[in-house]
Amino acid sequence: MPAILASIPQSAFTMSSNHEQPKNPEQGPTLAVVIPTFNESLNVGVLVERLHNTLQGVSWEAVFVDDDSPDGTVQRLRELAATDSHVRCIRRVGRRGLSSACVEGMLSTSAPFIAVMDADLQHDETLLPTMLAALRDESYDLAIGTRYMEGGSVGDWDDSRRNTSLFATTLSQRLLGLTIKDPMSGFFMLRRQVIEDAVYKLSSMGFKILVDVVVSSPKTLRIKEIPFRFGLRVAGESKLDNRVAWDYLMLLADKTVGRYIPVQFLSFASVGAVGVLVHLSILWTGMALLALPFVVSQTSAVLISMVFNFFLNNALTYRDKQLHGWAWWGGLVKFMLACGIGAASNVGVASYIYSDWGYWLFSGLAGILVGLMWNYVTTSLFVWPQKRKG
Ligand code: GDD
Ligand code: MN
Repeated sequence: MPAILASIPQSAFTMSSNHEQPKNPEQGPTLAVVIPTFNESLNVGVLVERLHNTLQGVSWEAVFVDDDSPDGTVQRLRELAATDSHVRCIRRVGRRGLSSACVEGMLSTSAPFIAVMDADLQHDETLLPTMLAALRDESYDLAIGTRYMEGGSVGDWDDSRRNTSLFATTLSQRLLGLTIKDPMSGFFMLRRQVIEDAVYKLSSMGFKILVDVVVSSPKTLRIKEIPFRFGLRVAGESKLDNRVAWDYLMLLADKTVGRYIPVQFLSFASVGAVGVLVHLSILWTGMALLALPFVVSQTSAVLISMVFNFFLNNALTYRDKQLHGWAWWGGLVKFMLACGIGAASNVGVASYIYSDWGYWLFSGLAGILVGLMWNYVTTSLFVWPQKRKG
């Protein structure tokens, strides 16, 4: 040991209390708090201050993961980090998504314990030491901040949000066989090994990262649920919208039948099924209500249902590659061309089978299947192509 270090009392390098002190200043953090942000510039400063207060005696880092918020959240975080080495910020460009942001934050740290929490001060950060103790001292794998148990609550939510959340909770409990009381919670802490083990199976879609992690874990996790009261958002606004509900359904689909059928295809096919209903109702309106000639009614039905399908697929199935402005119109034209060829091959295949075998229902369904596959493959290649890297 160099002479200068020998003069420092040995106790400075060892644990001074039951809290873990860094054995030397070079040592990495014990706890990483991963915080996804989108337009939270007014909240992050307060949150960091609160983390300092509550995590005294723990060696920690805060890993913010920002999706290039227009409100300057990243700049604010860079300012904070300039004077505070606890603060780190990952800036993601050209991507959006709460779950995927959490995953990237979790994978960016070497801390053995990782918490995930919102930036908007709705999660009670004073729970963190209790969660850490559950993992470190009671050897749980996962600690969840739970609203739905004695001592916890959703706070001041209106009835509709409360009911939606309860419905979503019941769905995942039934469909995925989860027994945890609050699988929708966005506030939890886990051992880093848990995420490292689950990572290849994660769907990373939408908002519900906790469900994803629990279902993707290869082994049964030891889980502790700790009650807390969901607070009020202080500044900024919630990003929860109707599409979050759709993403959640897609996550459930991916976690159940996703092994057999790609969930994107399922989404495309469901949109198509609704499109058929749209088609039929326009046809009916033309024929029964407006007494238009069949060709006119059928043509309008084809055109309108194509636009409808394009619109919904752009908003839902390909939400992450959504087209806007001129690209939207270009996409629409390509979509209609591709689906036109799809329709022709539908009729071609169906007629061929029908002329050979003669079962009209079977022939019709076979035509639909071929048309659907064609539409799916061509539109995913040409209308919503994979973004090129770099
Ligand atoms: N990086 C990134 N990208 N962060 C995001 C995104 C995104 O696309 N969308 C939202 N966030 C961040 C927000 O800035 C906030 O810090 C946190 O994720 C939660 O977003 P809110 O918009 O505040 O969600 P909420 O309060 O309505 O929902 C919360 O409670 C739900 C429980 O009902 C979240 O914790 C959900 O995960 C949770 O299920
Ligand atoms: Mn919130």
